[in-house]
Order: sequence, then structure tokens, then C-alpha cells
Amino acid sequence: MPGWQWTIATSPASAHQQIHTHNIQVGVIHLEPEVPVAFDQLETLTASHPQIEWIVAAPPDVLDAADVGRFIAGTCFDYHTLPADLDRLAVTLGHAWGRAQMRERCRGTARPGQFGMVGGSASMQRLYGNLEKISNSDAPVLIQGESGTGKELVARAIHRHSARAQQPYIAVNCGAIPVNLIQSELFGYEKGAFTGANQRKIGLIESANGGSVFLDEIGDLPFESQVMLLRFLQEHCIERVGGHTPIDVDVRVIAATHVNLELAVAARSFREDLFYRLNVLRVTVPPLRERLDDVDLLADWCFEVFSSEKNAHVQGFSLRAKQAMSRYGWPGNVRELINRVRRAMVMSEHRLISAEDLLLDAPACDAANGASLGQARDQAERDLIEHALLINKQNITETARQLGLSRSTLYRLINKLELKQ
Ligand SMILES: Nc1ncnc2c1ncn2[C@@H]1O[C@H](COP(=O)(O)OP(=O)(O)OP(=O)(O)O)[C@@H](O)[C@H]1O
Ligand SMILES: [Mg+2]
Repeated sequence: MPGWQWTIATSPASAHQQIHTHNIQVGVIHLEPEVPVAFDQLETLTASHPQIEWIVAAPPDVLDAADVGRFIAGTCFDYHTLPADLDRLAVTLGHAWGRAQMRERCRGTARPGQFGMVGGSASMQRLYGNLEKISNSDAPVLIQGESGTGKELVARAIHRHSARAQQPYIAVNCGAIPVNLIQSELFGYEKGAFTGANQRKIGLIESANGGSVFLDEIGDLPFESQVMLLRFLQEHCIERVGGHTPIDVDVRVIAATHVNLELAVAARSFREDLFYRLNVLRVTVPPLRERLDDVDLLADWCFEVFSSEKNAHVQGFSLRAKQAMSRYGWPGNVRELINRVRRAMVMSEHRLISAEDLLLDAPACDAANGASLGQARDQAERDLIEHALLINKQNITETARQLGLSRSTLYRLINKLELKQ
């Protein structure tokens, strides 16, 4: 056909190969009468390549079959009745290609940025700005943030963007090592240091020499182990258990915790001197409820990352599912979002994931309950403004900026809708 480049595949397996070697945007599945259709293989093929728009081309009697109809309705962009009408087929192909392009453009915005993180909200932009500066320094870093906000991702990004990027990055979960093993795990031991020490063992800190060590959950480090770390931070040297010579190590320390260390210091469960040694450069990763404008992007990114696991007919999110996500508080932050979306992609029985598939409450729809269009619009505006005021801590300037309104319009709406400030 003029204007189109084709590659032919004679089976789903060879189609997989062609897709990997060519940049294919539209796939035409040719079904013939009396040839059994391997739906399971076709569904695997289409689910593995969600960037492609699929069209079934088949004679009328094949198209009439219920299972073919189900496959087209659930998975494909369109169908074409054979024998081929080239003008009509060109139009269908053109639409499918246009849709694939559109999808590609939207996808671009949901890709992880330079620090491997998804999110374009103002608070994430501030975080990226801080990471840029911190990566250029060699001082210790303390990352704080609630569970699931991405502290581990931030730690790895700092190392990868630092001058130490080509050297080792060793992650240690301080909360997961039994108390009696912490010293030998972190600093290593000499042969004969204790029963069972049959040969010298290099500790985690020494093995990160030249690079960075990530001390995750530092707030969970038992009080008596904290002093050992203090010496390493002060003197940049360690001593293996059973060894008597200090060994110089050149390691950058990146620590993270979901515990508020200031409070832990006040409660005397965390050493104040260690806190000051660690708290040189501080990064706070914002909770997802304070950057709800990132939820849409994160959900799309997640959909793409896990698309090979999804139920074949699932094509995206319904509007109400997106609304429900952007109103939810996300106590488990990005980790919770990933889990809910992944589950919905596998379990959903619809073409578009619903709020129920995400196990979230669907936003109330007053219009459906008999309210007038005007009332429904007022309610939607009220919800949106109340929510924006809440996440911007009632700051009018920030709320107006987020909603794309002037301050005076926002004041007018607050009065009109009788909102409390
Ligand atoms: N901005 C983001 N973009 C993409 N993925 C993210 C982002 N933030 C977090 N994640 C992903 O969310 C999950 C949780 O992140 P991570 O393990 O870094 O959180 P954490 O703050 O260390 O949590 P915890 O305190 O429970 O250890 C990971 O799978 C991570 O890759
Ligand atoms: Mg973590």
C-alpha cells in the first residue's frame, strides 16, 4: 500500500521478533476462515506491546464469530472487513497511527526524569534542584520522608550523579541486622576474632571504599551501635573486629530514616553527636498527598511499566478512577500507588480501570442523583477548591496558582460557594 512500510509475520512468535527489530506502530492481524485462532498467543502479543494499535482484518463470517468479536472489542483499535478496500483501509491505518503517536507523546511526560524519579510537581522540582547541588558535594546526606516516598531511590540517584558514580554503592538496612552482628557486618573482622571467624572478612563500609554507603533506616540502629558509627564519621577510619590497626576509608555516607530524628534525639534514643554528624545536607522527600498533581503521571507510568502483566483487555484508567486517585490521601505513598495500580491491572474486568478496581471510593456524582448541572458544577468546584486549600495549607496565593486562577477569582469563588477558610 502506498505510503506505508510493511513487514510480514507469519505467526505471533515471529511478530514478537519483528516488533523488536522494527519500530512498529500499527499491527494488522489477518484472520482466515477455517484456521483456528490462537487467542491466547494473540493476547500475549498485544499485551506485550501496548504501544501498538491493533486492527483485525478478516472476512465477514470470521468477524461474526463471538470470540473474534470479543477479542476485537477488548483489545483492538478497529477491524477491517475483507476483501480489502484499500481506500478505507488507508483511513483506518491513518487513524490507528495517529492514536499511537498521541499515546507516545503522552507517554513521554510520564517517563522517569534525570534522577530516575517520576513527578513534575513544584515540590518534586525543588527536590531535583536540591539533588543537583547535593550530588556535587561530598558531605554526608540525611534523607527524611515517610515510608514509600522514594528515599531509597533518592539515595541511589545521589550516588549515580556524584563523582563517585563509578565506584561501589553499598546499601545497608540498619534495622534488619541483628544487634550482635552489626559491628562485624559494618566493619568486618580478622581471622580468629571470635569462634567461627575462620578467615578475615571485609565489612560493608570498607567494601564501599571510594564510593558511597547507604545507611537505610538509621533511626532503627540500636543506641549502643551508634557510637561505632560516630567514630567512623569523625575520623574516616574503621577497625575490624579483632584488629588493632585503624584502616582509612574514603566513603561518602548517605543515611535515610522515616523516624523523626530530632524527636528521637529528644527522647534519648538517638545520639545527638551522631545526628549532627549525619545531618549536614538534609533532603526531605515529600509525601504523595502533598503533591497530588503527580498522581496522574505516576499512575500512567506505572501502567506502562507493568503492562506485560496486565489483563489483555485493560487499556487504561477511567476518568472517575483518575479522580478517585487524585482525591485519596495515599498513606503508603508511591509504594501504595504502585501496588493498587498493579493489582487493578491484573484484576480489572473492564476495558478501563475503575475506582472500585483500585479499591478506592468513587467520587460522588450528584448529577446522577438528580441534581441540576449547575448544582453538580458547584459541587465539583467546591470539592476541588477545598481540596487545593487543604494541601496548600490554606495559602491563597499557592492555591490560586495550583488551580490556575487569579487570587481575586479564588476569593470570589470562596465567597460564592460559601467555603470556610
Ligand atoms: N518518584 C518516584 N518515581 C518512580 N518510582 C518511585 C518514586 N518514588 C518512589 N518510587 C517507587 O516506590 C517504591 C518505594 O520507594 P522507596 O523504597 O524508595 O521508598 P522509601 O521511602 O525508601 O520507603 P521505606 O521508608 O518504606 O523504606 C519503590 O518501588 C520505588 O521505586
Ligand atoms: Mg526504604
